[in-house]
Amino acid sequence: MSDTNKTPRVALLTGGSRGIGAAIRNELEARAIRVVAPSSNDLNLASPASIESYFSGPGKRPFDVLVNNAGINVLNAIDAIDTATWEQMVQIDLTAPLRLIQHVVPAMQAKRYGRIVNISSIFSLVTRERRGAYSAVKSGLNGLTRTAAVEFGPHGILVNAVCPGYVATELTTKNNSPQELSRIADTIPLRRLAEPLEIARLVAFLCSEENSYLTGQTVAVDGGLLCV
Ligand SMILES: NC(=O)c1ccc[n+]([C@@H]2O[C@H](COP(=O)([O-])OP(=O)(O)OC[C@H]3O[C@@H](n4cnc5c(N)ncnc54)[C@H](OP(=O)(O)O)[C@@H]3O)[C@@H](O)[C@H]2O)c1
Repeated sequence: MSDTNKTPRVALLTGGSRGIGAAIRNELEARAIRVVAPSSNDLNLASPASIESYFSGPGKRPFDVLVNNAGINVLNAIDAIDTATWEQMVQIDLTAPLRLIQHVVPAMQAKRYGRIVNISSIFSLVTRERRGAYSAVKSGLNGLTRTAAVEFGPHGILVNAVCPGYVATELTTKNNSPQELSRIADTIPLRRLAEPLEIARLVAFLCSEENSYLTGQTVAVDGGLLCV
């Protein structure tokens, strides 16, 4: 399905190289939304200087859609979280999405149209051991999402967070052993992990003109995990 606009909408997508981001890229393109997905070399979210430099060059163009998808999840018990890891996670998972929103919103306001989706996590809503930093930054992202929806709603900009459960990507296999994943799958009502496409379909809807009234929400896509 494609948006009906004559000029194609243009989306800025982070973390489009693999995993959930690669699936989002495909789904947006299937809706005739043009996707700009800079590599982490061209837009390194760990580096405030790289963000500023990107938006004074290729990122200067107006975007209709922003998907803050890139993220990292370094596992540590709370008493073992060191300052460097904490600051890196805050920078990539929380500060960078804020900065990107600040850069893209003026053009959206001028057009009176925008769609922003922040990829959060079910660990923003519940948690488990060694997710202290991840839970903190993703919960922060939900709060940022809600405030952005309130501030930018009058300008026609809709802002939502999508909270995936366990998705079959490199991030998940890095952080969970096969035995752990099998045990986790048994606790999910649908009895399996999500495929990236199953997250991407919702993101593409939220990024499209079809979504005309859903804003400020944090939507869990978790196979029912949060119900049990
Ligand atoms: N997988 C899950 O089960 C799951 C569950 C809940 C939420 N999420 C969230 O979903 C999002 C995508 O996760 P995923 O599983 O698809 O992750 P992934 O397979 O590890 O891919 C991460 C993506 O983020 C990019 N990235 C990492 N650090 C970056 C940086 N400093 N600057 C720019 N880009 C950077 C990577 O780029 P490179 O290829 O250049 O490294 C890659 O494209 C994340 O926000 C994650 O927290 C995932």
